[in-house]
Amino acid sequence: MVERTVKIIDSSRGLEKELPVLEASEGPATIDISSLYQEMGYFTYDPGFTATASCKSAITYIDGDKGILRYRGYPIEDLAENCKFLEVAYLLLYGDLPNADELRHLEDRITHHTLINENLKSFFSGFHYDAHPMAVMTGVVGSLSAFYHDNIDINKPEDRDLAAIRLVAKMPTIAAACFKRLRGEPFIYPKNELDYSSNFLRMMFAQPTEEYEVDPVIAKAIDLLFILHADHEQNASTSTVRLVGSSGANPFAAVAAGIASLWGPAHGGANEAVLSMLGEIGSTRNIPKFIDRAKDKDDPFRLMGFGHRVYNNYDPRAAIIRKTCHEVLGKLGNHGDPQLDLALKLEEIALQDEYFVERKLYPNVDFYSGIIYRAIGIPTNMFTVMFVIGRTIGWISHWVEMISEPRLRIGRPRQLYTGLAQRTFKKIGDR
Ligand code: SDX
Repeated sequence: MVERTVKIIDSSRGLEKELPVLEASEGPATIDISSLYQEMGYFTYDPGFTATASCKSAITYIDGDKGILRYRGYPIEDLAENCKFLEVAYLLLYGDLPNADELRHLEDRITHHTLINENLKSFFSGFHYDAHPMAVMTGVVGSLSAFYHDNIDINKPEDRDLAAIRLVAKMPTIAAACFKRLRGEPFIYPKNELDYSSNFLRMMFAQPTEEYEVDPVIAKAIDLLFILHADHEQNASTSTVRLVGSSGANPFAAVAAGIASLWGPAHGGANEAVLSMLGEIGSTRNIPKFIDRAKDKDDPFRLMGFGHRVYNNYDPRAAIIRKTCHEVLGKLGNHGDPQLDLALKLEEIALQDEYFVERKLYPNVDFYSGIIYRAIGIPTNMFTVMFVIGRTIGWISHWVEMISEPRLRIGRPRQLYTGLAQRTFKKIGDR
């Protein structure tokens, strides 16, 4: 294929430069600007990276205009319909869907890494009783780098793979421990005969005083939610994991940084913010007032769970979760959940309002997930922790993809300097 180029002309200085175009296997090509500063003395400016490719990746493809999301080429709808979460985890990490033996082997490895070091449990008691679970997750996952540092050589594929297995395996155990700490209840150990999502639900809701039966409908819904949250290209938290990992930092520390980034209400914290918003709206008669507030530039209020940096269409995950919402609430018998009715009405009104239509603000993955979590008995401040469990495989798959590159370069963006020119120093007595 003839290499395409793009010509940059700096007429003010009579300079011009042909920049190579890097072709994508699907979606937009990119202009390789890595020589721009050397050749023309310019940086590029793109706050929020709305049009900047930070890396090459073969893991996830999104087409925001068409509402397309594919993991390793497979449409999210097909994976959601047919797979278990660990099947999708295998796909994201290794690039292909597993056969039955490969899946069994992965399940066995994950199962036998679900325990956390007993000394780690003292970390939980160090937090104030009402500490937000995401603060606990950030701290405890970061502390895993103290347990797994000297025996990790990130240049060895087998060590990278073991770090990935440990993180995916232990995240539900740590998440459930966060929940038990909140409730002042004893931690529940994982049980090896249970599948990934059933094990998580049992660690969350079982008591040591009696046997706990996992509801298969709820386990399936949780497994699906983990699939839908598993990866999403170079979102803020994944880019954070990549940037931290690019310095060669410990992968557990890099994932802890991803958890911190996900916590923000503009990102994964939105699922918690949606429920708070629905609580604030209170009833359908108040919806118009809140829609007006969302449009008011002087009002910081935004419609949480709406809008997306990439999707100018309905988030395909929201469509799938919306359907699951009805199934789970139907099964649990609280289909008349006022929050769901309110959410449906809010969606209906917002999608007819020209402010939202013009800006293509559709419900995103966070709009409905919280309603399912609430129906299952998961408290609002644990919603983003649920996002962490699903997204861990995405974070670590991107970390592995980056660290496996032949030449790892530390991420180091430049800036548009707007500060003062050099000033003459004055000693303190002269100021
Ligand atoms: C996730 O990146 C990912 O892939 C993330 C994620 C993943 O899987 O990793 O998909 C998960 O984070 C989903 C997003 C969850 N966040 C929310 O639901 C919070 C509410 N949404 C917004 O904060 C916002 O839509 C963002 C942060 C999601 C996207 O913001 P952008 O791309 O920076 O867009 P913007 O803020 O520039 O908004 C464009 C316009 C603005 O109006 P104008 O200046 O053009 O007049 O749309 C308006 C915004 O004011 N707008 C909203 C709005 N979102 C955008 N107005 C009201 N309510 C909203 N929710």
